[in-house]
Amino acid sequence: MARLNHLVTLLFLTLKFAFLNAKSVTPPPLPVLPLPSYSQLKWQQRELIMFLHFGVNTFSDSEWGTGRENPSIFYPTALDANQWVDAAVHGGVSLMILTAKHHDGFCLWPSKYTDHSVIQSPWKNGRGDVVNELVNAAKQRGVDVGLYLSPWDRHDRRYGRNLQYNEYYLAQLQELLNKYGDVKEIWFDGAKGKNAPNMSYYFSDWFSMVKELQSTINIFSDAGPDVRWVGNEKGFAGSTCWSTINRTSLSIGNESLVGYLNTGDPRGTDWLPAECDVSIRPGWFWHKSEKPKKLTQLLEIYYNSVGRNCLLLLNVPPNKTGLISDADVQRLKEFKSAIDRIFSTNLAKNSLVKVSSQRGGPDSDFGPEQVLDSDHLWTYWAPSEDHSHHWIELTAKGKLLKFNVIRIQEAIGLGQRIRTHKIYVDGKLVAKGTTVGYKKLHRLEKGVIEGYRVKIRIMKSRGIPLISSVGLHFDPFWNPN
Ligand SMILES: *[C@@H]1O[C@H](CO)[C@@H](O)[C@H](O)[C@H]1NC(C)=O
Ligand SMILES: *[C@@H]1O[C@H](CO)[C@@H](O)[C@H](O)[C@H]1NC(C)=O
Ligand SMILES: *[C@@H]1O[C@H](CO)[C@@H](O)[C@H](O)[C@H]1NC(C)=O
Ligand SMILES: *[C@@H]1O[C@H](CO)[C@@H](O)[C@H](O)[C@H]1NC(C)=O
Repeated sequence: MARLNHLVTLLFLTLKFAFLNAKSVTPPPLPVLPLPSYSQLKWQQRELIMFLHFGVNTFSDSEWGTGRENPSIFYPTALDANQWVDAAVHGGVSLMILTAKHHDGFCLWPSKYTDHSVIQSPWKNGRGDVVNELVNAAKQRGVDVGLYLSPWDRHDRRYGRNLQYNEYYLAQLQELLNKYGDVKEIWFDGAKGKNAPNMSYYFSDWFSMVKELQSTINIFSDAGPDVRWVGNEKGFAGSTCWSTINRTSLSIGNESLVGYLNTGDPRGTDWLPAECDVSIRPGWFWHKSEKPKKLTQLLEIYYNSVGRNCLLLLNVPPNKTGLISDADVQRLKEFKSAIDRIFSTNLAKNSLVKVSSQRGGPDSDFGPEQVLDSDHLWTYWAPSEDHSHHWIELTAKGKLLKFNVIRIQEAIGLGQRIRTHKIYVDGKLVAKGTTVGYKKLHRLEKGVIEGYRVKIRIMKSRGIPLISSVGLHFDPFWNPN
C-alpha cells in the first residue's frame, strides 16, 4: 500500500511538472536599440512643459538685451512665483524651465561671480532671488524645475576669452545645480555672439559637471546629450520624427542640421528625442503690445509636437508686475480643458479588438486587449515573430464609431520601431503616416468619419511593432472645412 501511495505521488509530481512547463509565461521580446534612459522616459511622459522667459528684457521691451541694461530696471512690483506655478498646474504642466540668465547676462539669482544680477536691483532691496522663489513655489505643488543658463553673455567681459569665460560659466552652473535642489532639465542655447567668433564653449566639461551634480537631469541642446532641439521655434516636429539620431553628426549652433534634427534618423545610434519650443505669444519675453495665441493655434501646435512623438515646451512669460498675465492664464486653462475634452474619452473603449497574430499565443500577456488599458508604456500588443503582415482592428459592438482623431502609441521602452503605417475605416484608407513613437495623433483631414471597423496596418518596422495604446477621439475644435 505504501508502495502504491509512493507511485501515485510520483505520478502526480510528474504531471504537475509537465503542466507548469506547458504554462510557462512568454517573456517580452528583446529590445531594438537604442533605448531611452530612465530620465528620458520620464521626460517623454510629461508631454507639456513650460518655459518662463523673464529678466531685464521684460522691462526694456526687448527680446535680446544688449548687456548694457542697468540692473535697476529689473523691478517687478508684485512678483509671485506661486501664481506662475498655479498657472502651470491649471495648464497640466509638470516641469517649469526658467531663464536664470539670458543673452544679456543679467542673473535672476545672486551669483557670487558677478554683480550684474538681482543684487543690484531695487526688487526686495537687492536681496531677492527669482530662482529660489520658483523652486520653493514649485516644490509646494509637486512641480519640477528646470533652468536655462545662456552660454552667450553680452555683458560679461570674459566672454570671448575662452578659459576665463568657461571658468565663469562652469562656476555659475555649479551654483545653480548645487544650491537649489533637484533640477530636472538644463537648457543650453546654441546662440553665439558675432563679436566673438572664436569663443568656444567647453561643452564636454559642462555636460560632465551637470551629470555629476544632478543624476536625473536631462541636458537639452541642439545636440543633446539627452534631449535635442527640434530645429525650429514654431513648435512643429517633422511628420516623420524618430527619437533616434546620430549624435556624432550633430554640432551645436549648426544651421545646416535643422532638417536632420526635425526628423531624426531611423538608423540613429543614440536615443535623443526632440523638444518643441514655442512661445504662447509672438515674442519670448512679455511685451505690452502682444497677445497670446488663439486656442486653435495652440491645438495645432499640440498635434504637431505631442502628436508627433515630441514634448511641447510652451513659453509663458511673466509680465512687468512679475505675474503671468490674465489672458495667458485663461488661454492655458482653455488649452488644458480642450485637451482633456478630446482625449479623456476613448470612443474605441468598448470595441472588439482583433490582431493579425499574438506573441506566445492567446494566453500570453501580449494580447489585443492591452491597447485599450490605461498603461501607455509597459503593457502592449505584440505580434508573433513568424508573421510579416501586422495589423490591429477595432470593431464597434453595436453603435457606429464617429471620430476625427486617431491615436497610436508604441511601447518605446523597448525601442522605437514603426516606420510606416496606414489606417482604414470599413476598408477605405483614411490616413497614413510614417513614425509613431511614444504618441502619434492623426487629426483627420476630412473631418469626422463614421464606420464600424478601424484597421491599423503596420507596413514597415524595425523588428516587430509593439503597440501600447490605440484611441479614437472626437475633437470638437477641429473643423477642416
Ligand atoms: C579668431 O581666430 C582666427 C584664427 O585663429 C584669428 O585670425 C582671428 O584674429 C581671431 N579673431 C578674433 C576676433 O579674435
Ligand atoms: C554642420 O553640419 C554639416 C552637415 O552635417 C557639416 O557638413 C558641417 O561640417 C557642420 N559644420 C560645423 C561647423 O560643424
Ligand atoms: C547613422 O549611423 C548609422 C550607424 O553607423 C549609419 O548606418 C547611418 O547611415 C547614419 N546616418 C546618417 C544620416 O549618416
Ligand atoms: C500682469 O498680470 C497681472 C494678472 O495676472 C495683472 O494684474 C497685471 O496688471 C499685469 N501687469 C502688466 C504690466 O500688464
